[in-house]
Amino acid sequence: MTTDVLLEFADVAFRYPDGNAGLAGCSLTIARGSRNALIGANGAGKTTLFQHANGLLKPQQGVVRYAGQPVDYSRAGLRALRSEVGLVFQNPDQQLFSASVREDVSFGPLNLGLDMATVRERVEQALQAVSMAPFADRPVHNLSFGQKKRVCIAGVLAMQPRLLILDEPMAGLDHAMRAELLAVLDGLHAQGITLLLATHDIDFAYRWADRIHLIAGGRCTAAFDAAALPEHAEALAAARLPMPGLVELHRLLVARKLLPTDSQPRAMGELISQLNASEKDFQ
Ligand SMILES: Nc1ncnc2c1ncn2[C@@H]1O[C@H](COP(=O)(O)OP(=O)(O)O)[C@@H](O)[C@H]1O
Ligand SMILES: [Mg+2]
Repeated sequence: MTTDVLLEFADVAFRYPDGNAGLAGCSLTIARGSRNALIGANGAGKTTLFQHANGLLKPQQGVVRYAGQPVDYSRAGLRALRSEVGLVFQNPDQQLFSASVREDVSFGPLNLGLDMATVRERVEQALQAVSMAPFADRPVHNLSFGQKKRVCIAGVLAMQPRLLILDEPMAGLDHAMRAELLAVLDGLHAQGITLLLATHDIDFAYRWADRIHLIAGGRCTAAFDAAALPEHAEALAAARLPMPGLVELHRLLVARKLLPTDSQPRAMGELISQLNASEKDFQ
């Protein structure tokens, strides 16, 4: 039987050399093909968790499994894992190091040992996916923050990962850049790529994700389908997160009998998107 769990953390603990607990018995599962939001305060352990997902860090306790197999920490094992699990860092300057955009995006596929023609093709595809093809020959250091972010995503996409992990991808992006990034993510999801991203934004997570994972103190404290979020008020409160605005608005509209009791708060997100789209047609 093929499992639909792509990534699994079982009781993973990791302490940094200075004694800080990065993860403290964290368990989580990511289903193949799903969109996942990991929500937690600063210092909750999101980045540490992501670095375990692609083998940059190794658990001191517990197990990380990818596609049903415990991660193999040999050179070859890590290379195989990293060709499947792509991690986009929060800070693009931590990830970009080559002179030009094309060079930077080529680095991963070249490292996989692919022939030049395949590398070139993958790089062009990845740059197109993030609308950065016209910038291929630009020096990386001249790009804006949002453009650097897209180059980082292209660099990971060129590896053709099955699981794409993005560490706080919306941080530092303006509204238009966020919308563009979301369109890129939608395209990747449509191709069957599993997505996992860290965010502080519960409203965004509620509208975007299939599944929400809360993390605090290095542990996943709750995981639920995003549609079921209104039933998890206690878990949200414990994580000091507010209810999404949509849920609050929905509750008020139902109380005033302006919406039927059995309507879905999340469906209002779609309605708002549709209204936004038709608004644009009027302009
Ligand atoms: N390189 C590091 N050295 C020591 N402690 C660290 C390091 N990186 C993170 N930590 C600590 O590990 C915990 C989890 O951090 P992190 O995974 O960065 O959380 P988040 O990404 O959710 O903000 C925090 O207590 C943080 O201070
Ligand atoms: Mg972080």
